[in-house]
Amino acid sequence: MALAFGKTEQSGRVIRVHPLTVRVTHWINALAVLVMVTSGWRIYDASPLFAFVIPPGVTLGGWLAGALLWHFAAMWVLALNGLIYLAYGVLSGHFPRTLLPLSPTAIIRDLVEALRGRLPHELGIYNAVQRLAYLGVILVLVALVLSGLALWKPVQFQGLAALMGGYEGARLVHFFAMCLLVVFVVVHVVMVILVPRTFLPMWSGRARVRQPSAPAASG
Ligand code: HEM
Repeated sequence: MALAFGKTEQSGRVIRVHPLTVRVTHWINALAVLVMVTSGWRIYDASPLFAFVIPPGVTLGGWLAGALLWHFAAMWVLALNGLIYLAYGVLSGHFPRTLLPLSPTAIIRDLVEALRGRLPHELGIYNAVQRLAYLGVILVLVALVLSGLALWKPVQFQGLAALMGGYEGARLVHFFAMCLLVVFVVVHVVMVILVPRTFLPMWSGRARVRQPSAPAASG
């Protein structure tokens, strides 16, 4: 498979794998998600949708008002940072280059290979399952922000809330999108632990490869 966004350096052994904007927005996003989810759990506990509460020990904010302060502070970070990532992804061609193409055949093939432990990971190139997961989590984050807006300003955004079946519908969308996000993060972090050489390049943007890479090509 051709290098999607890797670029061969002079030495032929160090490749550039993640653009600066992607790295910066990724780690800001990870921190914002951590604050949003844990403070959101505390807000949920003040008025649970279901017959369970989240253990207070894993929540942020201490009490409802404290949690709301964290949630409303981090939401600006999440939304603005997300907009920068989305704008960069579209305008620079990062999304089509790294997350596309994607087909059901490729997803099934890569999933079967991954379950057999036979899917090689090439730094800088996402396999079809990763592409699906990353596109999926971007959509989940968009759903979280939109349902959050409907809950935050139900009068101003009543049209948005109506699309989700009203205020209670928006609460359900917000809750289940949070569940999907948490599942993504758990699987994502487990995958990074299983393939640890992907971790440092997500900070530095560079990776050392054993053999000289082929010249960068689109695809
Ligand atoms: C908390 C919420 C997180 C979300 C929503 C998230 C989402 C993403 C997305 C969308 C990408 C692809 C970026 C792109 O190329 O445009 C990515 C890549 C990556 N993320 Fe995260 N991430 C999160 C947290 C984390 C954490 C906590 C770690 C580290 C333990 C991590 C490690 C990585 C690595 C290493 C890659 C590159 C994978 C590779 O090269 O194959 N992420 N993440």
